[in-house]
Amino acid sequence: MAKLVTVANVQDLAVGDGKVLQVRNLEIALFNVDGAFYALENTCCHRGGPLGDGAIKGNSVTCPWHMWEFELATGACVNSPGDRVRTYDVVVEDDQVKVRL
Ligand code: FES
Repeated sequence: MAKLVTVANVQDLAVGDGKVLQVRNLEIALFNVDGAFYALENTCCHRGGPLGDGAIKGNSVTCPWHMWEFELATGACVNSPGDRVRTYDVVVEDDQVKVRL
């Protein structure tokens, strides 16, 4: 059964930034877009690039390896329809960022 797991404090991630987190046995890319947090699997579905090191553009992140774009809310690939990465629900409570795992 999925549980909320605290992965960061709100202050740990500035607006417009992303970071890679190791949570349990997962690598998760966490992003802050204008105060809204998004969590995706870190591994790009193209060839495994680190999405957490990618640049945010609007509501998407661009993989740093070959520039595929993924919607942060859905994980859907903009360049290759039908491809996607997993997303995780994010909840912010008392300045703590929690991901449902
Ligand atoms: S590995 Fe991400 S676009 Fe190629």
